[in-house]
Amino acid sequence: MSEDRKTWRIGVAGLGTVGGGLLSFLDAEPDFAPAGGRAVVTGISARSRARNRPVDVSAMQWFDDPVALAKSPDNDLFVELIGGSDGPAKAAVEAALAMGKPVVTANKALIASHGAHLAALAETKGVPLLFEAAVMGGTPAVKMLREALVGEDVISVAGILNGTCNYILTEMETKGSAFGDVLAEAQRLGYAEADPTTDIGGFDAAHKITILAALAFGCAPDFASAEIEGVDQVDLDDIKLAHDLGYRIRLVASAVREGEAVAVRVHPALAPFGHPLAETRGSLNALFIEGRRIGRIFLQGPGAGAGPTAAAVAADIADVMTAVRRPVFQSPASGLKFAPVIDPANRISRVFIRLRVKDQPGVIAAVSETLAGAGVSIDGFLQKSAQADGSVPIVLTTHATAESIVFEALERIARLPSMLQAPKLLRIARL
Ligand code: HSE
Repeated sequence: MSEDRKTWRIGVAGLGTVGGGLLSFLDAEPDFAPAGGRAVVTGISARSRARNRPVDVSAMQWFDDPVALAKSPDNDLFVELIGGSDGPAKAAVEAALAMGKPVVTANKALIASHGAHLAALAETKGVPLLFEAAVMGGTPAVKMLREALVGEDVISVAGILNGTCNYILTEMETKGSAFGDVLAEAQRLGYAEADPTTDIGGFDAAHKITILAALAFGCAPDFASAEIEGVDQVDLDDIKLAHDLGYRIRLVASAVREGEAVAVRVHPALAPFGHPLAETRGSLNALFIEGRRIGRIFLQGPGAGAGPTAAAVAADIADVMTAVRRPVFQSPASGLKFAPVIDPANRISRVFIRLRVKDQPGVIAAVSETLAGAGVSIDGFLQKSAQADGSVPIVLTTHATAESIVFEALERIARLPSMLQAPKLLRIARL
């Protein structure tokens, strides 16, 4: 720390959307947390030195190597905004923690994959490792679980944790636009990850829900055990047909605890009109937290973008400067264990089934007899008029049934001679 002990010299590695936002924030408001002192960026590292930055960086020390920035005695606090679960981000965070330097990161992939190991390193060295910006950008979900709900017995956390997917699903529904066009716009607006498959494939949401599960349930983050489906299998017809039945499709991330066991999942799911998840539109994020004493809390807000995410990073910087100390997760790192995974064999769901059939007598009877024979009860049903190619779209929703039974019934339905394509199944969100 510099001589007056009031100025924190900050090293920032990674100057993309969030890094640029943080530089602008601290340039404009170095005294945003006066109880902790002044926050000044003194060292930076990024992929390209030549790129234009939102503020004058000529007085900042440049590092080609983020590990060298992390180890430099010329900064007191290391901010990692490079991204990625391994490689330079992990090496730089480990280097900073190993020398006893506080670390703030927005890197959800890193924390979801290596959180327990990094927490152990941070706690051994007695320094904070903070990651509010890793989940829901500017909406404080991490502090909510780690701090405000430390005394609560949380049983589930579930919501919309990827703004890019929510933006794509909303735009496809409201404008009837093609998936690729909407994705390009999300990238232009700065929501999307550098590699869009991280968003689209559900991995970004899975990183975030893995972190929230660890904070909520006191277990080690266990990304490898997450079940992940993205929005890449959802097409415009699914969105329109779900809409006709009174639902919107959302990418829902959930973590549920039953006793000691935990299930962490990401998949597209239908939410009925009027439900807060269905009404969470555009790039917004939303989260339900359910606890035994508190009942349900609902958070909704920005999950991405330079300004909101920089504000979340700044909140962590303020915690470092004001010497707030807590375990990295809700429990001390020495007690973090991987939770057993809930057996999916008996999972109960309501589902939406989409079929494309030949326009001939007896088709609907055959479908409903197959479902009835398996004990699957139909809730909603919609048959559209025959298309130009003679095929008929049918969609139906079921009451709650063991998924294994529905899957078996769908295998039989797929073999009916009137089927023109494989049946498609989407779950209805458990709300
Ligand atoms: N790519 C993420 C999203 C933003 O679309 O939500 C950062 O977490």
